[in-house]
Order: sequence, then C-alpha cells, then structure tokens
Amino acid sequence: MRRPAALLFAVTFCLQILKGSAGSLLKSLEVPQFTFVSGTVTLRCVYDMGSSKLYSLKWYHNNTEFYRYVPTERNGPVNIGPTNIFTLHEVSRDDRHVTLSLSRVTAAATGAYRCEVLAEHPSFRTESMQSYMTVLSHSLSPPLIKRVREIYEPSDQITVGCQPQKMEKDEPMPKILWLIDGKQAPPAQQEKYGRSLDGSYTGVSLNIPGQQVVDAGGSVLVECRLSLGEFEERASKTIRVRMEHKSLASAPNAGSAVAVLGTSALLAALLLSAAL
Ligand SMILES: *[C@@H]1O[C@H](CO)[C@@H](O)[C@H](O)[C@H]1NC(C)=O
Repeated sequence: MRRPAALLFAVTFCLQILKGSAGSLLKSLEVPQFTFVSGTVTLRCVYDMGSSKLYSLKWYHNNTEFYRYVPTERNGPVNIGPTNIFTLHEVSRDDRHVTLSLSRVTAAATGAYRCEVLAEHPSFRTESMQSYMTVLSHSLSPPLIKRVREIYEPSDQITVGCQPQKMEKDEPMPKILWLIDGKQAPPAQQEKYGRSLDGSYTGVSLNIPGQQVVDAGGSVLVECRLSLGEFEERASKTIRVRMEHKSLASAPNAGSAVAVLGTSALLAALLLSAAL
C-alpha cells in the first residue's frame, strides 16, 4: 500500500481537471484509482467558497447523486441516497471539505465519481470535478518470476520473465517494473512479451548479459514490482553466473583444465601446483 503516491496522483489528476474548468471554488478531489470488491475507500472533496457561501455540495456516481449537503437545511443538512453498490458513511465535514467512506464496494461501484459545489445567491456558481475508480475482482498477488536457471555462463544472454499470477478479462494490466540490485533496470533491458493485437501482453522480460552479472561480482538480485494505482506487490530472485578464476586463466594450460574440472578443491590444487 502506498497511500502518499495515490494521494499525489489523485491531487494532480484533479488539478488538471480544475485547470480546464478555470474553477476556484473546488480545491481538490481525492478518489482512488483502484480498489477491490468488498474493499473500503475514502473520497474527499476540498473546497473554498471565498467571499460567497456554500449552498450545496453533492457527490455523484455515474451521474447519480448519492450524497448531498445543504448547510441551510435545518432538518438534516446531510442527505445520503439509498444505494446498493456500496455502504456510505460521512467521515468528516467542515466548511472546507467533505470526506466520505465507501465500504463493501461492489463491482458496479466502478465508474466516475464527481463532487459538485454550488454557491449561494447571488452567484449560484457551480463547479465540479470528477475522477474514475475501477473496482477489481481480486486483490493483487505477488508476481511470478519465470525462467530463472540455477546458474548461467558469462557468455549467456539472460532473459527472465515477470507476469501477474492471473489476469481477469477486461481488468487493467498492472504496471510491471524490473529492478537490478535495487536500481531500476534501464528501459532497453525490459521488454513486453506475449503481446496480442489488442495491445495486451502477458508480462515483461528482463534481459541481462551474463557479463553484467560477472561485473557485479557473480550474482545480482533481480526484483519485479507489480503495481496498480496505490497497490504494489513484489517478488525477487538471485541470478548467478559461473565465475572464472582470473589467477588461473593467466597460468599456462590452466584455462582448459578449469573448464573441465571446475570444482573449488581441484582449483585450489591447481593453484598450488602452479605456484610450486
Ligand atoms: C458506472 O459506469 C461504469 C462504466 O463507466 C460501469 O462499469 C458501472 O457498472 C456503472 N455503475 C452503475 C451503478 O451504473
């Protein structure tokens, strides 16, 4: 879970919408990009009426109103509409924001969430912002790392794959990112595989020349990160490459002997005999 990132995304996303409408009453809208069936999400709408007063604040889902706040309404300023796609609670409210919690979210809760504010007389100015949320049927599982061999040779072009454990039809593909020893792998070393005509793909491969692993000391830790909005899952594996002994490679005839024998005890024996 990476809440700050999600929040930042939501805020920037909404600020972009705001720019388009040249608004000034609505300050931000926070709607998570993804959630899971039966999950709980927090929605937040921040406003600033400036010199005018708030007449009403409404929330809509797919253009159906599900929440209304009318401060001047003496008997029950808050009106929560009946809905069977989620359970709604007002978390907090003041003269700057309304925060709602949706729980027991169903697949039908996927869609556009819009917050609309209406200023009082005389301006009756209306502003709204919206953001899209997708409800996924399953929570994210750690990715599968495929095709990792026990050991590689320095001359090998190492290719390993990473993909989601399972993909539901019509659900968004998580982002897949490879890291080598904690650093993001260059884009040139990452490649989508299993592409189909509709633009979908199965996973992302990581390509590492065996020599790169040799240069890193004979092994690297590769990590695959799967992310969907604020959700992230990881898996990692160690890639090992057989190391040649430099000291032996320069000794006469030792190179071929090493290739054939290859065990450390024999290497030590060879080293000894070379020294004598
Ligand atoms: C809202 O719209 C989305 C598509 O944009 C749809 O998947 C979802 O089922 C709709 N939900 C309701 C309750 O209308």
